[in-house]
Amino acid sequence: MQTVNKVPELRDVIKTWRVAGASVAFVPTMGNLHAGHLKLVNEAKKKADYVVVSIFVNPAQFGAGEDFETYPRTEHEDREKLDAANTDLLFLPAVADIYAPDTKTVVTVTELSDLYCGVSRPGHFSGVATIVCKLFNIVQPNVALFGLKDFQQWVVIRTMVRDLNIPVEIIGVDTVRESNGLAMSSRNGYMTDAEKQVAPKLYQTLCAARDSVLMGVQSYPDIEWQALVFLEKAGFEPDYFSVCRSSDLKKATAEDLDLVLLAAAKLGKTRLIDNIYFSR
Ligand code: PAJ
Repeated sequence: MQTVNKVPELRDVIKTWRVAGASVAFVPTMGNLHAGHLKLVNEAKKKADYVVVSIFVNPAQFGAGEDFETYPRTEHEDREKLDAANTDLLFLPAVADIYAPDTKTVVTVTELSDLYCGVSRPGHFSGVATIVCKLFNIVQPNVALFGLKDFQQWVVIRTMVRDLNIPVEIIGVDTVRESNGLAMSSRNGYMTDAEKQVAPKLYQTLCAARDSVLMGVQSYPDIEWQALVFLEKAGFEPDYFSVCRSSDLKKATAEDLDLVLLAAAKLGKTRLIDNIYFSR
């Protein structure tokens, strides 16, 4: 696996592939890689001739008081995992390689960015949309892969690509979980052992809510309220639990068939997010 830090170097490597007529799949990450990230890499191998992975802890998507400084940076281990997964090129820029000191342009996907995680993390999705747009311009991939674990992020990026006519196919990959159901996340390492015992209850709550919907319970506000109460009793500080339409994340009505249940809750210092998507 080749590693490059600078944009012009990356462009030179990709140009040699392009001249030979090869296609490129791209997996953007913030590192501290786990099996969820590696599933994206494995899926990417099936979609194109070459796979590019980026590791960049993007300051623009962290709010004041969030974990930008302490976000786990495990470059050595990440490199070994990507090498073992047959990644072709790792792009590992520094902040100064990506953002001009007087950068002035921001990409905002309106409305969608203000919902759910956007309420408690103002500016987060503009930070995500801006970096993903920049990385797409830098790498110019044919396809890019994102985890459905971050369902709102996936919808924001798909909408940005549609609205800005960015010529990239966006592929969503199912959430990889621990055997106890907990969605894998780079932030899971922040939890204490006691919190790790409680954390799978977030997914269990989502499963129970999905089962209620599938059994025909039509009062979605009641399902949401019960889930919030359950999470609070279990020791979480719930942020939101919402029965949504998967297409546009609007609150679901009894007519909607393709649904996603979105949830976020804090457990101690760790903010967990998860979801379940299904059709009824
Ligand atoms: P990061 O949290 O590192 O995640 C990188 C990619 O891995 C995202 O597409 C995310 O949805 C996916 N992912 C994370 N956990 C997963 C799991 N358990 N199963 C499947 N996929 C999973 O998301 C980001 O970084 C950033 O916001 C980024 C898109 C790189 C922009 O900075």
